[in-house]
Amino acid sequence: MSVYLNGQFMPLAEARVPVLDRGFVFGDGVYELVPVYSRKPFRLDEHLRRLQASLDGIRLANPHGMAVWRELIGQLIALQGFDDQSVYIQITRGVAPRDHAFPRGVAPTVFMFAQPLLTASTGQKAAGVCAVSAVDNRWQRCNIKAISLLANILLRQQAVDAGCAETVLLRDGFLTEGAASNIFVVKQGVLRAPPPSHLMLTGITYDVVIELAAAHGIPAELRAISEAELRAADELWMTSSTKEIMPIVKLDGAPVGAGEPGPLARQMDALYQTFKQQVMRG
Ligand code: PDD
Repeated sequence: MSVYLNGQFMPLAEARVPVLDRGFVFGDGVYELVPVYSRKPFRLDEHLRRLQASLDGIRLANPHGMAVWRELIGQLIALQGFDDQSVYIQITRGVAPRDHAFPRGVAPTVFMFAQPLLTASTGQKAAGVCAVSAVDNRWQRCNIKAISLLANILLRQQAVDAGCAETVLLRDGFLTEGAASNIFVVKQGVLRAPPPSHLMLTGITYDVVIELAAAHGIPAELRAISEAELRAADELWMTSSTKEIMPIVKLDGAPVGAGEPGPLARQMDALYQTFKQQVMRG
């Protein structure tokens, strides 16, 4: 596997980062995860714009312009031996003596690797997954795709410990997102999700779902969703670049709606797959 580190492509085993890298010591960095289908990155410009927003959020200058990013990501994709990939991009504030204050004149560390993209099988989508809920105890800047994911990790592990796929987060009694996904609610044919804010990461998949709903006449509303609405949903979905649109059929042990993937989830998944095919055909 070929990875990219600070200007060079190299085998994974040769990629080395000094232990004083602020990513290692402080979790001081941001990342992106871009799905690649048939060697074509999905919504790359949108991912690069979100990367820029994350860098702006942590006051770290972007080491590359858009064109250079596109070129480097293209080269990384071409070096892999598999077609469907998930490209991980990480930028940290670089290597410096440990001090909370920003170091001066230090180059950021840029690391990228690709791994085979494992999306859910038709069988998994047909069965759906279970989720648990938890209080969203993360910080107030969840719109930054920060590498410091300790809160998300602890929250997500609650789902893993319960044999489930995701932890659905509630802040002050309202839905925010999942530990590593966005959450949609369907009630009487209307698709709902919380509007983008600093309390959640606006997913690229989330945006695509909302666009597809608008383009295909599916009524959709972005507004605050209470815990009661969450628990009374006909359908619940989690969405992310790797999970795509995954129905949640059980929440905290209680069936969601009929306890099986609903009609709108099936429709949206079909629309999403068609949309992907168009992107792949270029
Ligand atoms: N996570 N919210 C959070 C907290 C996430 O970590 C993710 C994705 C999303 C969905 O974003 P998108 O649709 O752009 O993938 C929402 C990725 C997959 C990860 O960290 O591995």
